[in-house]
Amino acid sequence: MAELTWKGKDAFLNKAHNVQLTSHLSLQTVARHPATQHEEQEAAQCSSEIQWHNRLILGDKNDVLSTLLDEFTASVNLIYIDPPFMTGRVFSSGSSIAYRDTWDNGIDTYLQWLYEAFSLLYLLLSERGSIYVHLDWRTAHYAKLLLDEIFHPALSSGGGFRNEIIWHYQSGGRPHKGYARKHDTLLLYTKSASVCFHGELIGERRGTQKRNNMRKEVGVDGRVSWTIRSAGRLYSYDEDSLMTPSDVWTDIHHLHQRDPERTGYATQKPEALLERIIAASSEKYDLVLDCFCGSGVTPVVAEKLHRRWIACDKSDMSITTTLDRLLVSERSTPFVLQHVVS
Ligand SMILES: C[S@@+](CC[C@H](N)C(=O)[O-])C[C@H]1O[C@@H](n2cnc3c(N)ncnc32)[C@H](O)[C@@H]1O
Repeated sequence: MAELTWKGKDAFLNKAHNVQLTSHLSLQTVARHPATQHEEQEAAQCSSEIQWHNRLILGDKNDVLSTLLDEFTASVNLIYIDPPFMTGRVFSSGSSIAYRDTWDNGIDTYLQWLYEAFSLLYLLLSERGSIYVHLDWRTAHYAKLLLDEIFHPALSSGGGFRNEIIWHYQSGGRPHKGYARKHDTLLLYTKSASVCFHGELIGERRGTQKRNNMRKEVGVDGRVSWTIRSAGRLYSYDEDSLMTPSDVWTDIHHLHQRDPERTGYATQKPEALLERIIAASSEKYDLVLDCFCGSGVTPVVAEKLHRRWIACDKSDMSITTTLDRLLVSERSTPFVLQHVVS
């Protein structure tokens, strides 16, 4: 198998379990936040979902993820991560630093860092689980090779690469000397061939606009339907029928400066993006994990869609922003705030 290599590459996956076994770290709960709705009645029912506490964790991803292995090996249904893109920038809000995206030894340091994250996440992902890795032109091509290695179909029963999603947006300027970079890349990998995917829940309306070689027919009531003959069969679709979205997403916009969703946290992604991912690749009460939660978009949307969640970040500002956001939202499940301690 072809494999990406770099200075100091250390095959981490084989070691990841031992990292957890030899780790002296643990998670300490520093606060508990009850649900805002129905907690009393639901607690009385004592179902397993109600006993569950979602978790917001302050800490470095390697420390947090290796600590989580104890309880959650092969248990996470959906992982979304939006790690630093290797921009070389320091991101701030006002005069405070949110996080640094600078890498002392350049690409070698960055790749080992990413590789370790993918290895630990692989161990946490459930057999039917999916991982979405959100990057851009700077490192998406490297990440794909790393993920190919870790999610190799021979290691993971029929799993591996599923989709390369292009999230196209219009924000930002247009240079004169080259094409304007107007997309991020989301790499979707799974651990096995049997995956949770609900294309029907994220469908887009077929509509009245011509898309391909289909024939347009207008009924007596003025309604449009589309027909196509393939392998001797005639397929007909109403304008209101839903199609699974393609791997190019053009209908989700970056948050504009005054968007009410904005928290002030740099590199915040829109809730609509997470709504699509969580609705498509998980089910009610499934466990969703984001170890670079930033402004808290993943836990906020997971909460809204009644998923269980674990979110972590090593930035104090991220955890404060996420906490503030969660505390003003309707919650049907309590959550705890945890820190990594030795
Ligand atoms: C691109 S931002 C995530 C933005 C987030 N998806 C949102 O929509 O708000 C990347 C995040 O990774 C966090 N981060 C960077 N290195 C980390 C590490 N080693 N462990 C945990 N979090 C880290 C940063 O603090 C930052 O919040």
